Amino acid sequence: MTLADRMLTPHERAARLGADQLRQLVGLVDHDDAADPFPVVGVDAVVFACGNATQSAQYFVATWGMTLVAYAGPETGSRDHKSFVLEAGSVRFVLEGAVDPASPLADHHRRHGDGVTDLALEVLDVDRCVAHARAHGATVLLEPHDEADEFGVVRVAALATYGSTRHTLVDRSRYDGPYRPGFVARRSGFVSRPGVPVPLFQALDHAVGNVEMGRMDHWVRFYNEVMGFTNMAEFVGDDIATEYSALMSKVVANGNHRVKFPLNEPAVGRRRSQIDEYLQFYGEPGCQHLALATADILGAVDALRAAGVEFLDTPDAYYDDPQLRARIGAVRVPVDDLKRRGVLVDRDEDGYLLQIFTKPLGDRPTVFFELIERHGSLGFGKGNFRALFESIEREQAARGNL
Ligand SMILES: [Fe+2]
Repeated sequence: MTLADRMLTPHERAARLGADQLRQLVGLVDHDDAADPFPVVGVDAVVFACGNATQSAQYFVATWGMTLVAYAGPETGSRDHKSFVLEAGSVRFVLEGAVDPASPLADHHRRHGDGVTDLALEVLDVDRCVAHARAHGATVLLEPHDEADEFGVVRVAALATYGSTRHTLVDRSRYDGPYRPGFVARRSGFVSRPGVPVPLFQALDHAVGNVEMGRMDHWVRFYNEVMGFTNMAEFVGDDIATEYSALMSKVVANGNHRVKFPLNEPAVGRRRSQIDEYLQFYGEPGCQHLALATADILGAVDALRAAGVEFLDTPDAYYDDPQLRARIGAVRVPVDDLKRRGVLVDRDEDGYLLQIFTKPLGDRPTVFFELIERHGSLGFGKGNFRALFESIEREQAARGNL
């Protein structure tokens, strides 16, 4: 096994991802875990609370090309709620919905709508991470404990982060089951459409948190001190302001850069910013968007559009702007192919990236997805912020929330 291959998780190996591919997809870097006070392997799962997890699971399978792999519900002894575990490449989603009206999930959904409850992290040593987190002021929601079944043992704990979002910490090195104890393997009967690339995305690139005005630096410090994350990038002032609204953003990342958390806060603008709208409709800080890394953004966008997914519009002027054309230079496809699909381009000193954003996935103007195809650039599309935010503002105005 080469050094590059040792960087891979068993989950990534099972998804047939290579170290070089992950370097390109998500900017994976070498990292010495021995010197890290809180060594994080990667994101273990993104857990969603859903108004109807049964139908959401079908949506992510049929529309987003994910594979159903595990299930827990009343039939398996989980009386209170159903959970569906879906995978695409190394990405794992867990969709949870209340069965019992008294379930806390029902109340969570009433207050927040569909959203992310848990950005679960795979760690090497749960107890060591919790001890470090506690010593640096984190709230421990769940003390370290073992969960076991016939497939082995998973060591689990949980820390609180912004809003009511949590980070479950999982050590699954001694476990061989489909997800976690309490879950059974399950497959969907869905048959994918011919010509649709599966999976449509291979890895999670970043997960963005929206926090209240004035709280961004607090949460940056939280990730610095509690998890040893380092700061990757920050966007303030003119980077990220349109005529009407503004926000500020800083990005923290774990040692190997598999986990990247941009943190946004609203800034004072002439009108209400997209972050204000999110905070109003989610009811508190929470996860705003997930960026899904794909090796083929054009194929993914075509398949998703054909399945009915709606993306933010990009005006033709974006592509016809000679300054933009000069700045982005040569990319792997003709600009007209990007224009036809509304895919945005950004370039920095390391390379370029292609990206596109969906409209909100649920009923509320809260959670959405980004597709990102990196070619060397480790950025977040700073050059596209203005075009992106103006597009979001057109949507906000149509909803009566600008
Ligand atoms: Fe993003």
